[in-house]
Amino acid sequence: MLESVLQRIDNGLEGSIERWADLLRIPSVSTDPAYESAMREAAQWLLDELAPLGFRVEIRETEGHPVVIGHHEGPGDDATHVLYYGHYDVQPPEPYEEWRNEPFEPTLEDSPHGRKMVARGAVDDKGQLMMWVEALKAWHAEHGGLPIQVTVLLEGEEEVGSRNLRPVLERYRDELKADVCVVSDTGMWDVDTPAITYTLRGLLYTELTCRGPGHDLHSGFYGGAIENPINGLTKVLGALQDERGRVQVPGFYDGVVEPSDEELAAWKALDMDDTGFLASAGVTTAGGGESDRSLLERVWSRPSCDINGIIGGFTGNGAKTVIPREASAKVSFRLVPDQDPDRIIESLRRFIDDHTPAGCSIELTVHSAAPAIRIPTESRYLKAALSALDAVYDREPVLLGSGGSIPIAAWARDILGIDTLLMGFSLEDDGMHSPNEKFEVTCFHRGMRAHAALLEQLR
Ligand code: BES
Ligand code: MN
Ligand code: MN
Repeated sequence: MLESVLQRIDNGLEGSIERWADLLRIPSVSTDPAYESAMREAAQWLLDELAPLGFRVEIRETEGHPVVIGHHEGPGDDATHVLYYGHYDVQPPEPYEEWRNEPFEPTLEDSPHGRKMVARGAVDDKGQLMMWVEALKAWHAEHGGLPIQVTVLLEGEEEVGSRNLRPVLERYRDELKADVCVVSDTGMWDVDTPAITYTLRGLLYTELTCRGPGHDLHSGFYGGAIENPINGLTKVLGALQDERGRVQVPGFYDGVVEPSDEELAAWKALDMDDTGFLASAGVTTAGGGESDRSLLERVWSRPSCDINGIIGGFTGNGAKTVIPREASAKVSFRLVPDQDPDRIIESLRRFIDDHTPAGCSIELTVHSAAPAIRIPTESRYLKAALSALDAVYDREPVLLGSGGSIPIAAWARDILGIDTLLMGFSLEDDGMHSPNEKFEVTCFHRGMRAHAALLEQLR
């Protein structure tokens, strides 16, 4: 049954690319209210793709952007039931001036691997979700149905921490129940080496707002006598980590699982190019950090803390002698299994209170919190995915960790009681979230083939 579907995918590649480009033209930026109507348009566009395949599909409202939920009965009887998840929202395109073309006017360019699609969302996640949509479409066109039972969940808030996804999973728990969740939103090892990702870090994203005097003050009249909120804020920020980046919040490392010897050996066998990794960041040394651990180990299995932005005071040209009334910082923590985000939030609150100097106050806002996930590698679905990749690629698939975060994975386990298969096709240099984000056409093409092969494996 698979061979003719693969044929159809190969012959229909240009049509698939056009539909992918149609979705990319919709500027569905979730974080910016200016794009509200585009969010709805993207959801509707996806609904219109799924309905002709025999899906009962609806747009459901949330407190934020809507989700698209669809159902396909498949062949009936006791067929495998897959929950496909993807996110139709993208990151903001800024800085505009660094794009070669308009971010929402998808452009095919030449690449060392053939062709590449350049646009915001090309890979994250529109290109990746279109691979399974197109595989379902090809199977439906070829066989007049689907070989498995399918539920689809498309959300529009992944890039802002999936703020309303938990309530959606709780409210529609019975409707979304399946045997396994399938997500394409992760990477390969390299362009010819396919991969399944089996660990993701979690993410706790917070904001600290420090307030002091009632209004901005002359730093000559008041400096040294009145606490400056930027000074106060940086005292707390400075206390958060030691010189090796180890987070000082009490209990932060509670539950952290060390990678096993087998895992460490497997990661070593991947023969990671550390110099290339550093070069991709534009540096030649990794800096301090936990230097007794390999770079891969640090990104895949260790928690981290980053100040993502800092706001306050005089930032104009020249100099101004001022004590500002307020300052704030965006602070995020990457979490690993089995750290508990809720306990960390409580401990962080106490830590901030303990370190806030007299004369100012610090308010903690939690933007989002999702735990890390580790997917059991002995799962039969994971084995099916490895076989599917094996059928489509010449090189054997590898198991990878990842430092990134996708909230659904942990919540599918905790709320729906199912594992997630992370079968993704992005490359390290795709520039997710960056200007000139791209996705290789060969990755898109072979990704569609792999998704078709997965349908065959799960049948
Ligand atoms: N697709 C990415 C996550 C990702 C990228 C996982 C590469 C593995 C490899 C996702 O869209 C993303 O950007 N997630 C955010 C977290 C989210 C909670 C805001 C991230 O990791 O920063
Ligand atoms: Mn993504
Ligand atoms: Mn992303």
